[in-house]
Amino acid sequence: MLHLNLFIFGCGHHKAAWRHPDSSAERLGDISYYEGLARTAERGRLDAIFFADGQSADHVADGPRWYLEPLTTLSAVSRATEHIGLISTISSTFYTPFHAARLIASLDHISRGRIGWNVVTSMFDAEARNHGFDAMPDHAWRYARAEEFIDVVLRLWDSWADDALQIDRQGAYVDVSKVRTIDHKGAHFRVEGPLTVPRPVQGHPVLFQAGASEEGRDLAARRAEAIYAVAYDLSSAQAYYRDIKQRVRAAGRHDPVPIMPGLVTYVGSTEAEARAKQRELDELLPSDDALRQLSLYIGQDCTQWELDAPVPALPSLEVFTGPKGRYATILRIIEAERPTLRQLLGRLAAGGGHCTMVGTPEGIADEMARWHRNEGADGFNLMPPSLPSSIEDFVEHVIPVLQARGLFRREYDASTLRGHLGLQRPARFGSYAAAR
Ligand SMILES: Cc1cc2nc3c(=O)[nH]c(=O)nc-3n(C[C@H](O)[C@H](O)[C@H](O)COP(=O)(O)O)c2cc1C
Repeated sequence: MLHLNLFIFGCGHHKAAWRHPDSSAERLGDISYYEGLARTAERGRLDAIFFADGQSADHVADGPRWYLEPLTTLSAVSRATEHIGLISTISSTFYTPFHAARLIASLDHISRGRIGWNVVTSMFDAEARNHGFDAMPDHAWRYARAEEFIDVVLRLWDSWADDALQIDRQGAYVDVSKVRTIDHKGAHFRVEGPLTVPRPVQGHPVLFQAGASEEGRDLAARRAEAIYAVAYDLSSAQAYYRDIKQRVRAAGRHDPVPIMPGLVTYVGSTEAEARAKQRELDELLPSDDALRQLSLYIGQDCTQWELDAPVPALPSLEVFTGPKGRYATILRIIEAERPTLRQLLGRLAAGGGHCTMVGTPEGIADEMARWHRNEGADGFNLMPPSLPSSIEDFVEHVIPVLQARGLFRREYDASTLRGHLGLQRPARFGSYAAAR
């Protein structure tokens, strides 16, 4: 079975989605918007919804990025849904582990076991400047802190045994032998514990990670229980998938660790209708800004190029001297899709280097199944270009095809996010600390 996750982001993952006359731009501060999206995802029997997070407000004129704080949002969304998992990003660079453990544990109780946390080490100096740093601390420091952060959070959750609460009205409220300090003293944190919140419903809310660097992949392999990935096509998905699964085995782990690459879909009853939906959003992009940005990515001025003509040949990756990651993606899109300049700008504006599938429900289901069968993906992190319309299209038209092919659940058969992802509940109190 596939695992499917709805990645909720503003008015959709296409940078111009908010400019559409029917967009949800006025509703981003309205909790009923997010409740509605989560209910749509739940109607499609998706595993979870996911909110990314950032800690700075930059380029605010270009369109919405952050609005409501995600953990606060999930608290409300949990009350508007019954089954679907609820995942939020947490920055191990800016939170403290005690805060994070407390917030997530509380949400796991509120949602009755449906919470996941995506640990990120954060990226931008502007974020760091909001948290007492002059610039982002270096990558290795951030990953060392992330690992210690995760350990402390897990130990705080284990600081209460599952059966610590006695609630004996004539005796004790808690069995004190089942609530322990953790007495952590490390390079980054000193935390005595125990947590203020009894053990979460899932034991440990599910840990997600999305590292791409060596340190990121190693952390994911050692600690993550599910992984978000970026893959432009099946061959790059396979390379990442095989590398991570091999690292997970090398770390001595036997749990499934599902890997979910991002997926942008434009669904139509015909191929032409799907392409028209894509074109409609692409045409809303202010081309001057997009061209200036592309000029930076490719290291040459393209502001005078013809928008509706094919993109001219670009120098190979070997001779390009700027940042290579995004340039490599641009070369692959040009080679595989032979886009016009406008189409290329549109592709980069919706999900960037993530896979994009444009077509009929059957065609998209075929392609998803091909990735699933061939070690490209255990599922997908859906990144709808426009919200709510693109996720409604997916749930109404693609999900039934996946269900008919036996690739996706028809009903929820579990009540927790761990259950949806096929993950075991971690063993009882103390086992994590004892295993270290
Ligand atoms: C689907 C997905 C969601 C992500 N969400 C966030 C996020 O919410 N906040 C953030 O700072 N980084 C986020 N990232 C970035 C990753 O955590 C990570 O920093 C990035 O992939 C670079 O890898 P590295 O940290 O190993 O260098 C996300 C990445 C992916 C693929």
